[in-house]
Amino acid sequence: MTTKELKEKYLKFFEERGHKIISSASLIPENDPTVLFTTAGMHPLVPYLLGEKHPMGDKLVNVQKCIRTGDIDMVGDDWHLTFFEMLGNWGLGSYWKEESIKMSFDFLIKELNLPIEKLSVSVFAGDSDAPKDEVSAKTWESLGILKDKIRFLGKEDNWWGPAGKSGPCGPCTEIFYDSACHGKSGVAGGGVEIWNNVFMEYNKKIQNLNTKVQTFEYEPLKQKNVDTGMGVERTTAILNNVKSVYEIEPLKSIVGKIKELSEIYDERGARIIADHIRASVFIISDGIMPSNVEQGYVLRRLIRRAIRYGKKLGIKGSFTHKIAGIIEIENKDFVIEQLTQEEEKFGKTLEKGLKEFEKKFFAEKSLSETAFYFFSTLGFPLEMFLEELKNKGIKYDEGKIQREFDEQLKGHQELSRTATAGKFKSGLADNSEQVVKYHTATHLLLASLRKVLGNHIFQKGSNITAERLRFDFSHSEKLTKEQLQQVEDMVNEQIQKSLLICCEEMSLEEAKKKNAMGIFENKYGDRVKVYTVGNEKDKFSCEICSGPHVTNTNQLGHFKITKEEASSSGVRRIKAILE
Ligand code: SER
Repeated sequence: MTTKELKEKYLKFFEERGHKIISSASLIPENDPTVLFTTAGMHPLVPYLLGEKHPMGDKLVNVQKCIRTGDIDMVGDDWHLTFFEMLGNWGLGSYWKEESIKMSFDFLIKELNLPIEKLSVSVFAGDSDAPKDEVSAKTWESLGILKDKIRFLGKEDNWWGPAGKSGPCGPCTEIFYDSACHGKSGVAGGGVEIWNNVFMEYNKKIQNLNTKVQTFEYEPLKQKNVDTGMGVERTTAILNNVKSVYEIEPLKSIVGKIKELSEIYDERGARIIADHIRASVFIISDGIMPSNVEQGYVLRRLIRRAIRYGKKLGIKGSFTHKIAGIIEIENKDFVIEQLTQEEEKFGKTLEKGLKEFEKKFFAEKSLSETAFYFFSTLGFPLEMFLEELKNKGIKYDEGKIQREFDEQLKGHQELSRTATAGKFKSGLADNSEQVVKYHTATHLLLASLRKVLGNHIFQKGSNITAERLRFDFSHSEKLTKEQLQQVEDMVNEQIQKSLLICCEEMSLEEAKKKNAMGIFENKYGDRVKVYTVGNEKDKFSCEICSGPHVTNTNQLGHFKITKEEASSSGVRRIKAILE
């Protein structure tokens, strides 16, 4: 079975059971400062898990592309990937444990024909925050899962979420598949995890935001939600009886191509390159460029790590385009251009590092300090530093350098973690009032930009924290001072007019007829929410958006643009605050 067939089967199975198909969201979460990437299908659904009504109903299903960097050290083993697709079904207050587990069981046993004796499950053991999950265990037993195949585990294994620091979460039950070739692959208790059913009935809230030591409270949610996630690549590997996700398409062809280009055989190295380039391709395709901050930095590290492994495997010349070329993606030319540019930049970094190396490594610093200097100031990787030492015939104790380097790195990371923590102070849910205001201000900004600059202005990106909004839009020239002033004044005028903001649900067709602004059509389901600022006859802004928004513009305070700059070619960026 191909990944495509599995995805179709899953969507159809849940559609037949009353679920509505929603499309995959971007890998870059919109308006959520608590995470860099979409790591699970539940991510874009947070407002609905917290109780807002979803325009498509209370039973949803989709295939969501995800990025997870937490397991990067395991990437290249049989089961871990940075980029993967997740099948998910959700019950937003509409069904609960028994029904969810029964559907998962039927899909695996009746639809995919997996043998029941190969399945085992884990269930939440209970603690002071939530009780032991007897209902799930009983349900599994009633379906024929033997008692000794049901493990009770604690929070570390059987609790999911929140995705960021705060938000919806709950106990989960995980399903594992076991066989001779899917044995103890680093997964607790044996077998490989293929599906996770989360019972989201809590909202994790930070209690004392402004103190150093924060404590949490698990507040019961208004509605009991089911959030499940099944790995497309893992399940396809199992169905095809191969022993790794790297042996199914499209990964198999990508790894094959890398081996073809390599001079040295290294299975794990080839898998790492395949994973990292594939992840990078999808991140770029969703609008992120390599940079030194946030998602761009993660992207840069993935590309550079892939190139480093490429060198280890003896791949000659620029090669990322050859691999990206076989990955199916819509904006391939653009993606390849970005990858190649980054490869060139990294080539220059390495060249510079090597030159510095000639001059600097005899300095009075220890070898590990010099290595760290090269890494932190020039981006020159430790591994290459060690290789250069070797080339020069300099003797060194690799273990010692590695240890000392790691210590310096730890100090460095702690510093940047503190900075990051400061920047994101806390999760979306805790700052929701401020974030909601910025969200509404963004609509006013887009409408004002279109009125001042013209109808070629479309939203190209948006990122909101509790401290500011950041808005990217299509426009190729720098805005003049006058234009910026005009835009700022126009937004403030709307705030002063105390305009009402109303939300209506309608079909995508109706929304288009109303000339509602939208970003990407395939982002939306059949039913959408349209937010209008101002009354119907004299509306200032009308946008398709999932919200939430303030109800009157007079709640926003004073709007001020703090920065206008280029974001990428043909795209400008505005940062603004509400005072
Ligand atoms: N959110 C859960 C997970 O990622 C279920 O989808 O495992």
